Order: sequence, then C-alpha cells, then structure tokens
Amino acid sequence: MCGIVGYIGHRDAYPVVLKGLQRLEYRGYDSAGIALFDGAELKMSKTKGKVADLKSRLESEISTNGTVGLGHTRWATHGEPNDVNSHPHYSNSGDLVIIHNGIIENYDALKKELKKRGYTFKSDTDTEVLVNLIEDVIKEEGVKLGKAVQIALNQTVGAYAIAVFNKTKPDEIVVARLGSPLAIGVGEDEFFVASDASPFIEFTNNAIYLEDGEMAVIRRNKGVKVRKIKDDTLVDPYIQELQLNLEQIEKGGFDHFMLKEIHEQPNAISDTYRGRMLVEQGLIRMAGVDDNMERIANAKRFIIVACGTSWHAGLVAEYILEDLARIPVEVEYASEFRYRNPIITENDVVIAISQSGETADTMAAIKLAKEKGAFVFGVCNVVGSSISRETNAGAYTHAGPEIGVASTKAFTTQITVLTLMALKLGKFKGTISISDFQFHLQEMERIPEKVKQALKSDALIQEIADKYKDATNCLYLGRGYNFPVALEGALKLKEISYIHAEGYPAAEMKHGPIALIDEQMPVVVIATKKGHYEKVVSNIQEIKSRKGKIIAIVTEGDEEVRELADYVVEVPETIESLTPLLTTIPLQLLSYHIAVMLGKNVDQPRNLAKSVTVE
Ligand code: AGP
Repeated sequence: MCGIVGYIGHRDAYPVVLKGLQRLEYRGYDSAGIALFDGAELKMSKTKGKVADLKSRLESEISTNGTVGLGHTRWATHGEPNDVNSHPHYSNSGDLVIIHNGIIENYDALKKELKKRGYTFKSDTDTEVLVNLIEDVIKEEGVKLGKAVQIALNQTVGAYAIAVFNKTKPDEIVVARLGSPLAIGVGEDEFFVASDASPFIEFTNNAIYLEDGEMAVIRRNKGVKVRKIKDDTLVDPYIQELQLNLEQIEKGGFDHFMLKEIHEQPNAISDTYRGRMLVEQGLIRMAGVDDNMERIANAKRFIIVACGTSWHAGLVAEYILEDLARIPVEVEYASEFRYRNPIITENDVVIAISQSGETADTMAAIKLAKEKGAFVFGVCNVVGSSISRETNAGAYTHAGPEIGVASTKAFTTQITVLTLMALKLGKFKGTISISDFQFHLQEMERIPEKVKQALKSDALIQEIADKYKDATNCLYLGRGYNFPVALEGALKLKEISYIHAEGYPAAEMKHGPIALIDEQMPVVVIATKKGHYEKVVSNIQEIKSRKGKIIAIVTEGDEEVRELADYVVEVPETIESLTPLLTTIPLQLLSYHIAVMLGKNVDQPRNLAKSVTVE
C-alpha cells in the first residue's frame, strides 16, 4: 500500500517526483525517499516520516539536479518504518536502485541464497532482496536490466509494482507489476511511472495501465516496450486518454480532502446516474447490465464481496436488490470469503465492490469466484483499476478521485449504482411496478438537492462534535436500510478520531450492548420516518431510561423524537430505500469534526492507507 513515482525525461526529476509523492501520500505515509541521477552520480535520500520530512532532509543532504528520479512513500509490511527500511534501495554495487509497492513472499529464501553468494543487506525489507537478485542475474547471465528484471521476477512469489534504474544504463527505467497497480504517463519525450495517474496528470493525460504480469522498458526519447514477464511475449500497449483534471485532485479551498469529498457528494451522485437514469423515458441504461441481462437477472443468487466501507455499501445493496429484484443476496467480507471454501456455482453472480479497485482481498475473492464459474460484476471508482479489468462486467461510480483515506463519496455513489442496478433488474423481471420504478427514478433525481440540504446541518453537527469529542466510546444504531449506515458511521468515527465505536441493528441492543449505556455513552440513532420508525422510537426510550446521550438523525419536522433526544439532526424526507444516501451525511460530518477538534490527521489517519493491496 505504498506509493511509487518515477520520471525520465528532459526536465528536472526532483520537483516532479516530490510532488508526485505528495499526491500519493494517501497510499502510505510512514516513510519516504527519492533517488536522483544527474548523469554522473546516483544519489539518494530517505527518511522515516512524511514526504514533508523527506523534503527538508533531502535538500540538506543531496543536490537535487538530475533528469531521472525514483520516489516512494511507504506503508510498512516487511521491516518496521525507519530510515534504513524506507525506499529506495540500492543493490550491493550501488549501480541499481529500486522502488517497490507490494510483498515478495519468498524473499527470505531468496535472501539466504544471495547471502551464500556474498550479498549483504542493510535493511529487513523484501525489496532490498529483489534489487540484489536482479544485480546477481546481470552478473551471472550478463544480460541487460530488462531481461534481468524478468528473470528475477520469475523467481519470486508475491505482489509487486516496481521501478528499477541502473546508473550504468542511464537512459532507461524498467517497471513491472503483479497485483499492485502501475501506470505509465506518456509525455513529449518524457515518461512518468506511478501507482496511479495523480502524480503526472498535470503533465500528460496519456497513460498506459500495465496489466497484471506485464513489465516495460522505458527508454528516454525512444518509448515504451511492454512484455509479458512469464513468457516474454511482446504486448502492444494501449495508451488511454484520461478524463482526470488537476482541480479534481486538489483540496479546492477545503481544509481537508475528506471535507471536500463529503461536500462533493451531490455532484458525485448526479455524475453517477447521469446518462444512465433517463427519467423522462422511464429507462435505466447500464451497459454492464444491459449486455449481460439474462445472466444477471436469472442469477440464483447474488454474492456481494467487499471490504470496509464498500462492504457496508454491499449491505445496503442487499436490502434493495432483494426488495426490488427479488433475488437472494449474501454479503461477504472478501477476506473471509476467499479462504472459506464457499459454495459457488455458475448460476451465481458475484458483485465485487471496491473504490480503489485494488484491494487484494476483494481481488482474490473475484478470482476464486471466476474459477468456480460464477459471473463477476464489478462496482469500482478508479477507471482502469485491476478489479475493473478482472471482472466480467461492471459499472463505475463517477465519484472522481477519493483522496481522503476515510471513504465518503465512494459509499454514496456505490449505493447509487447498486440502486440503479436493482431498479433495472426489478423492471426487467417485473418484480417492481412501472409506477414504483418511475417514482424511484424521480426521487433519485431529487437526491442531490436533498444531500445539499443535509449538508446544511454542519454548524449544528460541529456543536454536537464539540459536546462529545471527549467520549471514549460511541454506539450507532439503525434499522433496515439504515443498519449498514450505523455500521458506516461507527467506522468513520473509529478510523479518523480513534474513538471506539460500534454500529448495531437497533433491536439487537437488548441482546447485550444496552449494558454499555450510561450517562457517558453517546448513542447516535438513525430514526427517519420511513422504515420501522415506531420501533426505533421505543429503542430510543430504552436508551433514555438508562441515561444514554441520544443524537438522533430524523426526518425534517419530526417533533416526537425531538422530545426524547439530546440532539436532533434533520434530513429531508425520501423513500426508505434511498434514506442511506441522506442519513450517512450527518454521520460523516460528525466523525470529521470530532477528529478535527481532536487534532487528528483526518486525511491520513494513523495505521491506515487508502487502498489495501496486500492481504
Ligand atoms: C474506509 O473509509 C476505509 N478506507 C476502508 O475501509 C476501505 O473502505 C476498504 O479498505 C475498502 O477499500 P476499497 O473500496 O478501495 O476496496
């Protein structure tokens, strides 16, 4: 879950690589380093800490000139976060330098072999083993860097996106990927390599996304040669023109990416249904479903696989797919599903949900499902991501880049895509009436405005955040469609404020969690009018009678709960199946403001990273 950046071309590499690392820092931020080649000297500086720490250290340690550069921001897997284990890593001779995102699982065995051959190691990392293995192949086989990388990689087991430079061959960089993402930016006589396009989008919109098991030799003023690592087959690279713009990956005047992304949800939701939801014609167009309607609509079962927030979106989808399309749905943690030896048949459709499209556990669950003959439909946000290319079909959420580690707009746009899918299947199968279908479309069209409404409670939520920021625990309760929202609210608070929080189905409280309730315990209860309202009100009375502090999310104009709760946050009325798109907003804002008031790094919470590309 590291970020890698590389540059070879005519301009100074340092500013390009440094800014690239700043853009990728959301991927991992416990140490960073940059290596530069100035035509004569290969120099490097690296440090434990953030890219900002690297900048000040590097500029005091080495000269920053040079038109070749490799940079890395780390999320430690092998070897604790410290200066020595941070990347880049030199080979023993100092000729080669490497940056790596991923894990070489058999590195220990390779290391033992190399030690027998006289190699020494400064760090505990798998990456330093790989660069010395490549050096050893060059020495033993007398081959060029590209070939040596290929031979070395075919001796490894694991996941990687790497970039390697050899100062004795200064006009090329060799890159390769298996499991971890790698994009090549193709500019005018210059090339960029990175974990995603954000480091080079301001320089070029032309990108080659390496497929799994591919490598490339990038030659200055010559071009990019792509080959299959396994069998050396030449591949004609597909240069994709990206629709991404710089503004989308900047903060746009907000203090944090997370707050910007929370406020981007009205547009993200309308961008996600634009061109798909044709309200006048009473139609939903989704190519991934249209082209596979028979297979999807006749599925015996939907199995949703995902992790974290995407798993919560899957839970909301379970309610709406069963409700509208009447197809049984199971929602699985991808990390458990992949090892549980699950029963999957070719009559099953597996829906894989992933914002980044790079989550290793979800990818493994997809591969397992495909092996067992299931049809796999992907819901991803990152265009060109591994999962979007591994699945049989899919639909993108059009949330735009999500940089804050805590997922927000991806959650609501995932629910939007899956709601459109359920409506489309329901209409096709006749399990929803045309009038109901049309009513859902009209209501969905009103959602962006209603989200803007919900965002207006920000000031009140800041007041509530200030009141409860010192709580050590918090409970979130919801019923039906809003049970997954309660889980999501709890996850948001946990991951950015580090306050322990749990989400529960409101009725489940009596079976244990109610024991936690006392005057210290804030309880966030989602009590919108649509969906088991009366039952939730009685749950609120149970909490009140045990002096719990109640923060209720209610439908505009609700006076009854206002009598019972300590704080009430209103959201506009809508139909039950769409309430999660509104009730999640105040929960996102609450966790955000509490974390800011506690001085936490909201966009880069401790111990986390944006996409989990290792298991
Ligand atoms: C959510 O805020 C977290 N960043 C995390 O739980 C995330 O949802 C999970 O890692 C899944 O990521 P994905 O959607 O990119 O697969």
